[in-house]
Amino acid sequence: MEPKEKIILTGDRPTGKLHIGHYVGSLRRRVELQNSGEYDKIFIMIADAQALTDNFDNPDKVRQNIIEVALDYLSVGIDPTKTHIFVQSAVPELTELTFYYMNLVSVQRLQRNPTVKTELEMRKFDGGTPTGFFCYPISQAADITLFKATTVPVGEDQKPMLELTNEIVRRFNHIYGDVLIEPQILLPGNQACMRLPGTDGKSKMSKSLGNCIYLSDSAKELKKKVNSMFTDPLHLRIEDPGHLEGNTVFTYLDAFCEDADFEQFMPEYKNLDEMKAHYTRGGLGDGTCKKFLLNILNSRFEPIRERRAMWEQRIPEVYEILRQGTEAAREQGRRTLGEVRHAMRIDYFEDSSFIEEQSQRFSKN
Ligand code: TRP
Repeated sequence: MEPKEKIILTGDRPTGKLHIGHYVGSLRRRVELQNSGEYDKIFIMIADAQALTDNFDNPDKVRQNIIEVALDYLSVGIDPTKTHIFVQSAVPELTELTFYYMNLVSVQRLQRNPTVKTELEMRKFDGGTPTGFFCYPISQAADITLFKATTVPVGEDQKPMLELTNEIVRRFNHIYGDVLIEPQILLPGNQACMRLPGTDGKSKMSKSLGNCIYLSDSAKELKKKVNSMFTDPLHLRIEDPGHLEGNTVFTYLDAFCEDADFEQFMPEYKNLDEMKAHYTRGGLGDGTCKKFLLNILNSRFEPIRERRAMWEQRIPEVYEILRQGTEAAREQGRRTLGEVRHAMRIDYFEDSSFIEEQSQRFSKN
């Protein structure tokens, strides 16, 4: 079906505080999209039901992290007057839609999902793969389509989910009639943003590896983490030529730095290319580069820290924002689900002519 409105839906699992990888990978973009005025509706979901698919034995972790993620959203500039922030498990329409979609996806199709495969390898469930976890890509298709989302800003790892969503949409519309909208994925702008490495430079930021910089880190913690960042082990003296490949400080600069930052913090260069050229040639020390990066990160995160501190004093209000966001999400959800039920011919009680038809069929006249 052709979309009538431009709608965004995206979300995160509440399994921990959000880090700056989330920030460059999607949060920053969401705030820009929100403020662009180009979208008719924006929904951001705290995916607690999805988080439970691999944390079902640790419900308190999910319960405690709802507010952490909500605080992270509000502090980066998600504005509850423009964006509905809601909690997945409180929208039962999502569960119902998931159940109907399960008929449209084969077990074999789910087994091919590369993101799920990687997660299964990392997670190593003893006692076998929980069915709920195995099926979460279907539930994610329901998340997106219940809101008739046209745009889904997410990281690259979510690509397989969107491919599956579009398959489900086409299949549903073909079998039952034109109801659902095919969404488009919106990926981060550059490679550094797509997969920001941890401070150790080894792999993606991950809580268990202890290589994250959190949005909620203090200026002091940030300084310590930036100063201990992995750079170029061959760059022993300042005069030595430096290498950019795998140099975490430069990867972060790729993700964060803008030309205006040079004017403000390092006027000896015009842009990152000039700075990189000097580093590669030799004569630019890692300490100087780290200090520059720290200045940039502080300028980005200071307003975020301030907003967080403000919201931390207003926790009941944050829960109220979630409650209202969830109410708005349900309203949209009920509407789509009504159309789905009608298309699937299971709206028995809504359709008075249907009951009339049935009466005719059974009346012996
Ligand atoms: N899978 C996403 C993650 O790992 C969270 C999520 C759940 C999501 N449902 C979604 C993202 C729908 C975008 C759209 O963080």
